[in-house]
Amino acid sequence: NVYPGQKEASLYVAQKIATLIKAKQQASEKAVLGLATGATPVGVYRELVRMHREEGLSFYNVVTFNLDEYYPMQPHAEQSYVTFMYENLFSHIDIDKANIHIPDGTLAVEEVAAFCLNYEKKIEEFGGLDLQVLGIGRTGHIGFNEPGSAPNSGTRLVTLDNLTRSDASRDFGGKENVPTKAITMGIGTIFKAREIILMAWSRKKAPIIKKAVEGEISGEVPATYLQLSDHVEFVLDEDAASEL
Ligand code: GLP
Repeated sequence: NVYPGQKEASLYVAQKIATLIKAKQQASEKAVLGLATGATPVGVYRELVRMHREEGLSFYNVVTFNLDEYYPMQPHAEQSYVTFMYENLFSHIDIDKANIHIPDGTLAVEEVAAFCLNYEKKIEEFGGLDLQVLGIGRTGHIGFNEPGSAPNSGTRLVTLDNLTRSDASRDFGGKENVPTKAITMGIGTIFKAREIILMAWSRKKAPIIKKAVEGEISGEVPATYLQLSDHVEFVLDEDAASEL
């Protein structure tokens, strides 16, 4: 699904999310959203905030699960995905804070496995993810599922790829400050979502989008696993789609 620019594409995704939220409100149900960080979804969140302010879109029935968090990471740190989500979305909408779930970067290492199992369990308790939004890293990662991730992987502690840490170095004032690990939902977790939307903008993403959409399905490019799903949509701008 290719749009002229990221603005139009972001509007489309925000509309889809708003439609889901409203349909669930009509049915007196919760909308369970899987959310992503990074520059890519910022325009979607901006539009959702606008809909909240100007059109009265309410998030009272929305439950969110974020894909990932650096490890270790303090929630109040500037680079944490907690900070990112509050700055870009949660602080500006009427979501019940108890409905927000983000992997915990403050755990002791021996606590991580139990936390991850519980994260999966919580998603199930809410009836599973209605919609998962994704960006894509230049290694082909979704969430922080780096090359080598198994298609049935669950939420777990992973080691970040070198390229991923280079891409994050600006946020951290140098690559040496980028954590070497992260907690991420697995490919299997993402796959269980009833609907998946992967977004990508700009020429920088064109080579990896070509691989993800047209390349051989392989753990070397985890996003290629999405080719196996019949409920995934790639939402791209013309630049990201330019090598297809
Ligand atoms: C990080 C996040 C991913 C995101 C990727 C791309 O690695 N963990 O979820 O998709 O960055 O980031 P950006 O959207 O800034 O290009």
